[in-house]
Amino acid sequence: MCGIIGFSGNKRAPARLLMEGLKRLEYRGYDSAGIAWQLRAKLRVRKRAGKVDELWDELPEEVMLRAGIAHTRWATHGSPSDANAHPHTDGPERIALVHNGVIDNFRSLKADLEKRGHVFRSETDTEVLAHLISEHCNGSLEEAVRTALRLVEGTYGIAVMSADEPGKIVATRRGSPLIVGVGDEGSFVASDAVAMAGRADEVVNLEDGDLAVLIGDEHRILRLAGGENHQAIWSALDLPPTVADKQGYPHYMLKEIMEQPDALEDCFRGRIQRDSGTAKLGGLQMEPRDFLQIDRVRLLGCGTSYMSSCVGARMITDLARIETTAEYAPEYRYSNPIVDRNMLFFGVSQSGETADTIMAMREVQRKGGRVMGIVNRVASTIARETGAGIYIHAGFEYAVASTKTMLNTMMALLLFALLVGRMRDLSLARGRELIEEVEQLPEKIRQLLVLRGDFREAARHFADSHNFYFMGRGYSFPIAMEGALKLKEIAYVHAEGYSAAEMKHGPIALIDESFASVFVIPPDSVFSRTFTNLQEVRARKGPVLSITCGDQRTEELADYSDQVIVLPETDEILTPFLTTVAVQLFAYEFAELRGCPIDQPKNLAKSVTVE
Ligand code: M6R
Repeated sequence: MCGIIGFSGNKRAPARLLMEGLKRLEYRGYDSAGIAWQLRAKLRVRKRAGKVDELWDELPEEVMLRAGIAHTRWATHGSPSDANAHPHTDGPERIALVHNGVIDNFRSLKADLEKRGHVFRSETDTEVLAHLISEHCNGSLEEAVRTALRLVEGTYGIAVMSADEPGKIVATRRGSPLIVGVGDEGSFVASDAVAMAGRADEVVNLEDGDLAVLIGDEHRILRLAGGENHQAIWSALDLPPTVADKQGYPHYMLKEIMEQPDALEDCFRGRIQRDSGTAKLGGLQMEPRDFLQIDRVRLLGCGTSYMSSCVGARMITDLARIETTAEYAPEYRYSNPIVDRNMLFFGVSQSGETADTIMAMREVQRKGGRVMGIVNRVASTIARETGAGIYIHAGFEYAVASTKTMLNTMMALLLFALLVGRMRDLSLARGRELIEEVEQLPEKIRQLLVLRGDFREAARHFADSHNFYFMGRGYSFPIAMEGALKLKEIAYVHAEGYSAAEMKHGPIALIDESFASVFVIPPDSVFSRTFTNLQEVRARKGPVLSITCGDQRTEELADYSDQVIVLPETDEILTPFLTTVAVQLFAYEFAELRGCPIDQPKNLAKSVTVE
């Protein structure tokens, strides 16, 4: 979850180079930050609790470095404090190290090190690595890293420096992403390529067990177990340096909400086949006859990727008539899942680095199951480990709260449903009808985004509510869950997402004049049932915001709601593409009204790379 960057230059460079990269990594953790560099024969470390900018302000302007490592943290072991911030050093401060991951056996390692006289300064698991490497450092940093890591259980992506080997950085990974890059100024290592955008021209994703040694633009990719890695694949880095600009928006989240019409088009453009009412998904690398063998699909994901999988599961079941379920990846992993040759699994993830999803996929692969990826980040761990799947093409998503990737994941799954559906029972007419509607979605989302003022008004109206139910049925049930997740995540308001049908089985006990409900209630095949549930809430004096599509039922809804927001109309199956944007806007406006740090909500980070 933390952000790591290291740089080894051909000549000395200003520390700003590292700090700029670190700033771009802040979405991966932002509770403390630190930097280490070498000055003459000593290592210098500056670190503190707080944001990267606070560290940057404290850093002397004149710092020039030949090599340095920096880190922005999301705390796992030990509170966010100056002492627990990375880099960590050994006792004599000859080794400095930054780490992303969790060292499972750190307590026993620490106890042994303490018996041998090591004194610790932090509560972190990471510090043991600096001490262990130091104990084994007799001339070669890479050899010390190799020996020390033999004793370590857990996950790590680390970058290490030694005062005795000026200019050298050693980096290695097990379970946490690390990328090496090379450019005109020297070589880089980072937990996300975005940190080196505009500086590195070529990158290689390290695999578990790879060990990189960087000195200026001389770089070697070795194996931790010994020898060179001759398989390392270098590719051009095509992220522009402006990738992390807000482009005039006050928050990345708003920028990304507004990007949704174009992003969605990027996902289906070139993939839909109007004439035959189907889709083309070359990345699946499957022959038509392979699709006929599939009799069950499982979608594994977490958070918003799970919500979009819930929508996708309905679409695939509806259109392709294949029994499909969405599964919480970490629960699925430990459920002793049934895996057989006719099942197809998808690891669904924006980042492609979510540890819970990766571990669930690996469990399925271990049992011989066929797993593909539905991911946004090209060449991420999930993309590489599956080797086949669907890229959702949402572009870079920086805000911690996922927005455009929810829409694009649903679109990828809809395209899959169309493709397989048209091989089975889905008629040509229905396929074409859906495609026509899909092509209109970007414009309808643009019309919806113009309604931002309505959501601001709703946020004002409900500003004093401290509890929310989000409710929907059918295709709107996952959107209700997503609406609740967004409100909790960025506005810190208690919210729960339910099937409206579930209300009367318990949750309705809490409804009174202070407990608000947001109904996601398009005029679909379950409208009358959801409307009954809405009236049940109203009968108990619960305040209601209704979000619907088209004018058909607006009057009835208005009789029982404090406010009705009317989105454009679309096919029932496609309503999630509109209602999702609506719940995003409501959460955004609510959080904005409360003055919350929307892009960096407390306790969260964008990619959850620890289990
Ligand atoms: O990168 P992933 O899609 O695998 O991430 C999964 C969740 O961590 C993520 O969707 C999270 O729930 C978002 N912050 C929600 O807005």
